[in-house]
Amino acid sequence: MDLHTPVCDLLCCDTPIVLAGMGGVARSELVAAVSEAGGFGFLGMVREAPGFIASEIEAVRDRTSRPFGVNLIPAATRPDLLAAQVAVCIEARVHAVTLFWDLARDAIARLRDAGVLVVCQIGSLAEARVAQDAGADILIAQGWEAGGHVRGQTVLAALLRDVVCQIDLPVLAAGGIVDGAGLANALTMGAQGVVMGTAFVATEESFAHDYHKRRIIEAEADATVHTDVFHVNWPVGAHVRVLPNSVTRGARGDPFFHATDIIGAEGERPIQLFSTDSPLRSMTGEFEAMALYAGQGVGRLSSIVPAGERLRDIAGQAKALMRPTGRAEPLTGRASIELSSPVCYGAHANPTYMGFADRDELAADLNLLLEAKHAAARVAARLVAEASDPELRNLARTIHANEVKWRGVLFDALVELKVEPSLKVGGFYDNATVIKGVEARLAFLGRGEDWVVRKLRVLLPRVADDRLHATLHQMIEAQQSMAACAQDTLTRRGGRGASAAGAASIARDEVGPAA
Ligand SMILES: Cc1cc2nc3c(=O)[nH]c(=O)nc-3n(C[C@H](O)[C@H](O)[C@H](O)COP(=O)(O)O)c2cc1C
Repeated sequence: MDLHTPVCDLLCCDTPIVLAGMGGVARSELVAAVSEAGGFGFLGMVREAPGFIASEIEAVRDRTSRPFGVNLIPAATRPDLLAAQVAVCIEARVHAVTLFWDLARDAIARLRDAGVLVVCQIGSLAEARVAQDAGADILIAQGWEAGGHVRGQTVLAALLRDVVCQIDLPVLAAGGIVDGAGLANALTMGAQGVVMGTAFVATEESFAHDYHKRRIIEAEADATVHTDVFHVNWPVGAHVRVLPNSVTRGARGDPFFHATDIIGAEGERPIQLFSTDSPLRSMTGEFEAMALYAGQGVGRLSSIVPAGERLRDIAGQAKALMRPTGRAEPLTGRASIELSSPVCYGAHANPTYMGFADRDELAADLNLLLEAKHAAARVAARLVAEASDPELRNLARTIHANEVKWRGVLFDALVELKVEPSLKVGGFYDNATVIKGVEARLAFLGRGEDWVVRKLRVLLPRVADDRLHATLHQMIEAQQSMAACAQDTLTRRGGRGASAAGAASIARDEVGPAA
């Protein structure tokens, strides 16, 4: 049972488990551990100096060659500092940037133009729509159960239901998820993966102070409180979810009228009472009175373990849970698929007339095309990660989106035929990986589209069902226009890659064996 979803291709990770970009807590050691284990880590860099961000990026790269991202909070950052932070992310070619709290259109545009994947964490359907319009590539739907700052007022299940149905972007689920059951649930509800904060605070590599980690693993279920008392450094009215302490009980005075005492230090920097700082390894002071961020999953965490172990355990539990019954579909992340659902392409129930393909023949052809799409999506995802030139990166991203879309269409068609869609990756992937150079591989992808078009043209006259026929016809047009777009770009740039790929095996009509 593979947990791989399309967002894994976008993020270039194996498992759809994402480490939340937790300010102070998610530093290089933790981010590297999560990405190295097959997940995707975000450095929590809210308000950090550009030099520090650059050195943390380097530190992750010293530990792992896997992709990772950076988290920034525009609402809690001076505009000039935010601009400099964005510049560092672009300069360092980080794979993705998450933005949270408010929507920073300028930052999104700059990042996207530079080919950086933009992830927006949202707390409502309205916010999701705005983020989609502003150009986000991926959304994180944050439920009310979440630890740390909580943007909305809707519980995760309700938010996911709305966002997955109404927004045309990959969605990750966040809030109270700490185990395989949470991951399996999220996938079944249509998320393509999960973002976890609290579960990774309680790991060996997290930069949280041991006091914070201990409080998390000792907490009972339902221990957390949702409050606005930790407000210094953030926009007024922002709510957080924390473990209860003297501040949330009101024993430290009125947070909005009381003079702000100093309760700790991080080097030269004083830590104020009521500030959003949580206890870190690098701090001293009254940890009990700091913001002890934790989500509603705390009651199910009972040990501090290496982050890779936590990630692997969660993935293993989810796989075990999803195997025996209807499982979340691993490719589209959509709700569980029941292969005994009614056949919609009804003409194929008894199709052996007029030369139409029977159901088995149709299934074999659709699965071959599906395997080619798995392969092409992976090749395109790798190109997104590898291309340093923004134009080529954007082209790779467009091709990737196209591959993912048509892969989903083929998958759905097979399900409607009551046939198990293939999870194999076509041999095109192996053929592509030996081609040197981003432009050459992009050209090879374009020729892959030609191969798909040829196969579809042969299949189309044999498809009896009108609706499937129309769908495959649309697919031919989309493939052709994608191939033309890739060809135009590469020709304008000098056509070097196109001729290199022309010599490759795809020209001989080979997709190779499925791997
Ligand atoms: C200690 C801690 C710090 C956090 N800091 C940030 C942050 O700096 N930026 C951000 O986008 N989200 C932050 N969050 C929220 C996460 O992005 C995410 O929504 C949340 O952790 C999900 O809920 P969970 O903690 O129950 O897994 C933080 C969460 C925690 C627990």
